[in-house]
Amino acid sequence: MRKRDDHVSTGRRTFLQAAGAIVGASLAWPQRSTAQQQPAGKTTPAFAAPPIPEVRIGFVGVGGQGTAHVRNMLRVPGCRITAVCDIAPDRIAAVQKLVTGAGQKEPVAYSRGPRDFERLCETEELDLVFNATPWEWHVPVCVAAMKNGKHAATEVPAAMTIDDCWELVEHSEKHRKHCVMMENCNYDRPEMMVFNMVRQGLFGEILHAEGGYLHDLRSIKFSNRGEGLWRRAWATKMNANLYPTHGLGPVANCMDINRGDRFEYLVSMSGPSRGLQQWAREHFPADAPQRAEKYVLGDVNVSLIRTARGKTIYVSHDTNLPRPYSRIHLVQGTKGLFQGYPDRVYIEGRSPEHRWEEAKTYLAQYDHPLWVELTKSAEGAGHGGMDYIEDYRLIKCLREGLPTDMNVYDAAALSAVVQLSERSNARRSAAVEFPDFTRGRWQTTEPLGILHA
Ligand SMILES: NC(=O)c1ccc[n+]([C@@H]2O[C@H](COP(=O)([O-])OP(=O)(O)OC[C@H]3O[C@@H](n4cnc5c(N)ncnc54)[C@H](O)[C@@H]3O)[C@@H](O)[C@H]2O)c1
Repeated sequence: MRKRDDHVSTGRRTFLQAAGAIVGASLAWPQRSTAQQQPAGKTTPAFAAPPIPEVRIGFVGVGGQGTAHVRNMLRVPGCRITAVCDIAPDRIAAVQKLVTGAGQKEPVAYSRGPRDFERLCETEELDLVFNATPWEWHVPVCVAAMKNGKHAATEVPAAMTIDDCWELVEHSEKHRKHCVMMENCNYDRPEMMVFNMVRQGLFGEILHAEGGYLHDLRSIKFSNRGEGLWRRAWATKMNANLYPTHGLGPVANCMDINRGDRFEYLVSMSGPSRGLQQWAREHFPADAPQRAEKYVLGDVNVSLIRTARGKTIYVSHDTNLPRPYSRIHLVQGTKGLFQGYPDRVYIEGRSPEHRWEEAKTYLAQYDHPLWVELTKSAEGAGHGGMDYIEDYRLIKCLREGLPTDMNVYDAAALSAVVQLSERSNARRSAAVEFPDFTRGRWQTTEPLGILHA
């Protein structure tokens, strides 16, 4: 679909093809030959760019989620929306109306087809390209942004293949630009409270975590608008965990992934594919094209990740069957655990023996400072306010020249689960290794602290 930028990827691709030819041999992804290991024992901050007093944003893809970010950015101090791109002109017009309605100049429109984001990136003076397109466009848009000197922020997952994960890492490093994956669940109130409790040592050493995306998306996937136009197609292409980051992002932070530990290997297993076929049979006439589609996506995919420090993570994907929503959200340590849906806590010596406590009883003491400071500003914003906090933090980091809360290595490590789960599942759940996108720097990068507004 997209032009490859061969100078950064050819070497790795050749290497991968050669490795893939060794049937039955190690499934390890080779590391880059340019690896620069940092000396152990020294902590270094993550990448930060020079401060930007007012962040000029160009949006690419302003459907459901892109428009929600537009609304947030109109409330976040220190940024302006100056350009907008979509293949649907009516989406652009709606965003232009929102922006002018908020008292800003009308953003320049880019609507000349699916690659018009390239013209936006080449022409506009922007600090940030904010990308909320369908999955297949995430990497082309981010790469175009970085090649043209703009920071990139993308919706989740950042990439669907390992090669594309590397593509983001290499362009971010080469052009010295941020490439941030906007994992809003990292900012949800329970997730942030748990992170705060982890940092304060309530659960002891964290040994295990569980997360997932368990959301009945059947009606959305079959809709004739929005995600229905592209998301169902992925179920015909990949049998994998297609959407790992909502469940993994928050627990990865609790486990210091890329900042003291890293995902090392994964095993994955998918069950049968039934849900979409059944929905199509029940909702479309016999001759409808939807009835002829062939789905390969197992309705439930479960994967297990082991980290370099020997910790374990369960992550699942379950979007084609009738069920209430859940992200599981379990974080377990040597002194106790949190378990979500419904939110519960057990801490040895504090909770009644062998009995859960309701997590909300911990909120007064352990609510994360970001939520304490931003609850009012976040009121009414998408997904209960967490999306506002996420967008606020991105703009603050860019304005103040701070490392972003999530960086390109997090985007790559979390998104890598998509293709790694496909590969493991296709090989009877054989273990597949994560590339070390940080090239050793996970050992020395400063852990994420308790952030403030
Ligand atoms: N973090 C979250 O909670 C959350 C929630 C919903 C969606 N998402 C993510 O946001 C992204 C968009 O999802 P959505 O629900 O907004 O989908 P959507 O279909 O409503 O919006 C996608 C928009 O992108 C436009 N588009 C498609 N191809 C384009 C191209 N080549 N150039 C420019 N515009 C293009 C479409 O016209 C549409 O307006 C996806 O990556 C999805 O996974 C995240």
